[in-house]
Amino acid sequence: MGRKISPEEQSWCLDKVTGKVVISKGLENICIDKSTICYIDGFHSKLYYRGYSIEDLAKNSTYEETVYLILYGKLPTRRELNDFSGWMREERDIPREVIELLAKIPRDIEPMEMLRTAVSYLGNLDPGRHDMSLEGVIRKTIRLISKMPTIIAYWYRIRDGKEIVCPDPRLNHAENFLYMMHGGKPEQILARAMDVSFILYAEHEMNASAFTAVVIASTLSDYYSAIVGAIGALRGPLHGYANVEAMKQFDEIGSPENVDKWYREYILTGRKRVMGAGHRVYKTYDPRAKIFREYAREFAERYGGKVKTYYQIADRLEEYVMKQLCETRNICTNCDFWSGIVYYAMGIPVDLYCAVFAAARTVGWSAHVIEYVTENRILRPRLYYDGEIDREYIPIENR
Ligand code: ACO
Repeated sequence: MGRKISPEEQSWCLDKVTGKVVISKGLENICIDKSTICYIDGFHSKLYYRGYSIEDLAKNSTYEETVYLILYGKLPTRRELNDFSGWMREERDIPREVIELLAKIPRDIEPMEMLRTAVSYLGNLDPGRHDMSLEGVIRKTIRLISKMPTIIAYWYRIRDGKEIVCPDPRLNHAENFLYMMHGGKPEQILARAMDVSFILYAEHEMNASAFTAVVIASTLSDYYSAIVGAIGALRGPLHGYANVEAMKQFDEIGSPENVDKWYREYILTGRKRVMGAGHRVYKTYDPRAKIFREYAREFAERYGGKVKTYYQIADRLEEYVMKQLCETRNICTNCDFWSGIVYYAMGIPVDLYCAVFAAARTVGWSAHVIEYVTENRILRPRLYYDGEIDREYIPIENR
C-alpha cells in the first residue's frame, strides 16, 4: 500500500485565504498574460480587435486591413495598406513540392488534417523557419495567411479531380479564394461576405487554439510548430469544427418542422449538445453570430433552395436555444451556428469550413505568438496529485 499525498503537501494548489484545493478545470477565467490584441466583453456582446469594435471592422474594413491592424496594432495609411496587400498577393503561390504533396494525400482525410500536413511541409521548405525575430515571424505569418487559401482551394479541386486554378493577383484576398475554388470571378456580394467572414474569424483572444500556439512558442520552439499545433486544436468539434458540426446537425434535423421533435429528443434529454451554441466567454449573444446571421438571412432570400432550408432550420432552432438555453443558462448561439450557411451559399463544401476558419485565424495565432514570446516565460501549469506515492514495487512474477 502506498499513501495519499495531503493537500498541505501540495501548497501550490491551495487557496491562500481558505487553504482549500483550487482546481481551474479548463483554465476558466485564468489570465496568463497582459495583451493589447483583443478584448471580449462576454456579458455585453462586445468584441474588439486592437480597440476597434467588430461591428465597425465588419462594416468598414477588409481582411487585408484587419490583418495589418492585428499584427501591427494600428490601422494602416493608404500607402501602407497598398504595400501590405501587394505583399500578401505576391505570397499566394505555393511551392511545386506542396502541390505534389496535395496530390499524394489520401482523398478521404479531413481538410484540417490535410492543412496540418501541408502547413508543416511548407515549414520544412522555408529556410527561415527557425527565425523567431519579430520580422521573421511577421514574414512567416504573411507567407502562411496568403498561402493557406491556395492550399485549401487546390486541395478541394485536386480531390474532386479538377484542374487547379492559380491565384489571380488582380483580385483581393477573399475574391481570389473564391476564384481559386470555383474557377470564375465571384459575385461581389459573396466575395464581400467571404471578406467579412475572414475578419470575423481573424482573432479571438486566448481560446484553445491560440493557447496551444502560445504554449508551443513559449518553449522557444518554432513558428510552424506553433501553427500546426493550433490547427490541431481548432479541429475539435468543441472549437472550430463546430461550424461543420452545426451543418451536420441541420442536415440531421432535415426540415424546420422537425426542429421541435429533434430538440425534445436530443437536447432536452441531454443526449446531444446544440452545435454552434454555448461559449466559455460569451454569456450572451456572440456579436459575430449576429453579422453571420444577417448574411445567412440575406442569402436565404436571394438564393432560396437548400440555403433557405438551412436558414429556416437554424432560425427555428435558434428560437429554442435563445428561450430555453440562453435566457436560463446563458448558453446562446455562437458564430459557428451561422457561418456554415453563409459558406454554403458560396458553394463551399461543408467539410472545408473549419479549414477556412483556420486560414483566417492564423493571423490571431501569430499575433499572440509574437506578443507572448516578446516577454516570454515558459507555460507550465500544475496538476493536483490525487493518487498514491511510495507504492511498493512488486516484481512481475509476484503480481
Ligand atoms: N448545448 C447544450 N448544452 C450545453 C451546450 C450546448 N451547446 N454548451 C454547454 N452546455 C451545457 C453543458 O452540458 C453543461 O451542462 P451541465 O452543467 O448540466 O453539465 C454546461 O452547459 C456547461 O458546459 P461546459 O462544457 O462546462 O462549458 P464550457 O465553457 O466548458 O464549454 C463549449 C464551452 C465547449 C463551447 C460548449 O458550450 C460546447 O460544447 N458548445 C458546443 C460546441 C460549439 O459550438 N463550439 C464552438 C465554440 S465557439 C468557437 O470555438 C469558435
